[in-house]
Amino acid sequence: MMLTAGHALPTRAACGRRAVRINAVAAPEKSGVLNVNRNENFGKLRAGYLFPEIARRRKAHQEKNPDAKIISLGIGDTTEPLPKYIADAMAKAAAGLATREGYSGYGAEQGQGALREAVASTFYSGLRTADEIFISDGSKCDIARIQMMFGSKPTVAVQDPSYPVYVDTSVMMGMTGDHNGTGFDGIEYMVCNPDNAFFPDLSKVKRTDIIFFCSPNNPTGAAATRAQLTELVDFARRNGSILVYDAAYALYISNPDCPKTIYEIPGAEEVAIETCSFSKYAGFTGVRLGWTVVPKALKYADGSPVHNDWNRVMTTCFNGASNIVQAGGLACLQPEGLKEMHAMIKFYKENAAILKATFTEMGFKVYGGDDAPYIWVGFPGKPSWDVFAEILERCNIVTTPGSGFGPAGEGFVRASAFGSRENILEAVRRFKEAYGKQN
Ligand code: MLT
Repeated sequence: MMLTAGHALPTRAACGRRAVRINAVAAPEKSGVLNVNRNENFGKLRAGYLFPEIARRRKAHQEKNPDAKIISLGIGDTTEPLPKYIADAMAKAAAGLATREGYSGYGAEQGQGALREAVASTFYSGLRTADEIFISDGSKCDIARIQMMFGSKPTVAVQDPSYPVYVDTSVMMGMTGDHNGTGFDGIEYMVCNPDNAFFPDLSKVKRTDIIFFCSPNNPTGAAATRAQLTELVDFARRNGSILVYDAAYALYISNPDCPKTIYEIPGAEEVAIETCSFSKYAGFTGVRLGWTVVPKALKYADGSPVHNDWNRVMTTCFNGASNIVQAGGLACLQPEGLKEMHAMIKFYKENAAILKATFTEMGFKVYGGDDAPYIWVGFPGKPSWDVFAEILERCNIVTTPGSGFGPAGEGFVRASAFGSRENILEAVRRFKEAYGKQN
């Protein structure tokens, strides 16, 4: 038994002096040296974060099959080399840092003015201003910082299925109850499936303080139309909710009826924060660069601008994106860089079309892929982790199990279109060999 102050125990002091009593109480068994309780919210999370868990299973499969040439269509990680114009701009910025004239230390936490201007004019022309744009090290990190700004009290709604960061950070912040076997208590799961064309029936959605919405959606690949986004913005406005709109794949949209930013919808500037990234546009998954837009018109119930608090978060918790990387971001938005970026997106979209056609030909129900780099393949009635394991076993291909994105993802797997052409074609060959025609 461990003892701490509060439990009476007689003892004799050293040197034969008077006996003293030490008060001690029984304490729970400790397994280390710390006397610090774990943040109980972390105990609510399920297993590991989705993608490291997939990497762990891939590694185990490779160890069991050392000769297997595994192809990853799992995590949406870009594979193609950086475009030359963009890489050269970063190389030049890095070389400049080695000179007195070119050296710079800390930059503005909100990002370099020229880059903020370029993002505003390229992606939000006339809709948002540069001072509403905050440059960062990526969307995922911004989502976590946005949650920090909200604190633990707000209620949250997410598309189901959706990018797991929305739910997991909500759990970490203490916005949810426990996992009930299907989902987390307290989260409003807005089911998106083939029956509703992957857009939630908002008449059945409970009011929450925050709504996370991703379009084109990761993982289903569905892009919301103007009419749907108008409905969503109206819903947020009626309920006085903040919409956190994840537009990380917006440039993959081909359908002219699907807006590339939520600010195309009138009134969105009073309810929506938008986050976006260079990761899937310019191959910056490892380079790291993104941005978040917080309109000045977005105000909390007490009238205070969300913009002020976001500025406080960024100036306190972030020291600005790397100056070298921001030079790369700026190059992305010059005419030559834009051309290279669009060529890269086109390449991955061709991959998506190849994968989609393959699964369709084999008789699967396939969604996404037209306006997004993800293909959402139905395996009705089969647990998606089992399908993931089966594809890995039979094809040496890593996919992502749909249930990893939420309860409504059960029965689906996601295939990512990020891969070299050679790997995509080899994956197609293996899929055909293993699954042939389904009906
Ligand atoms: C995904 O595979 O869902 C994403 O690429 C992961 C990410 O962007 O963090």
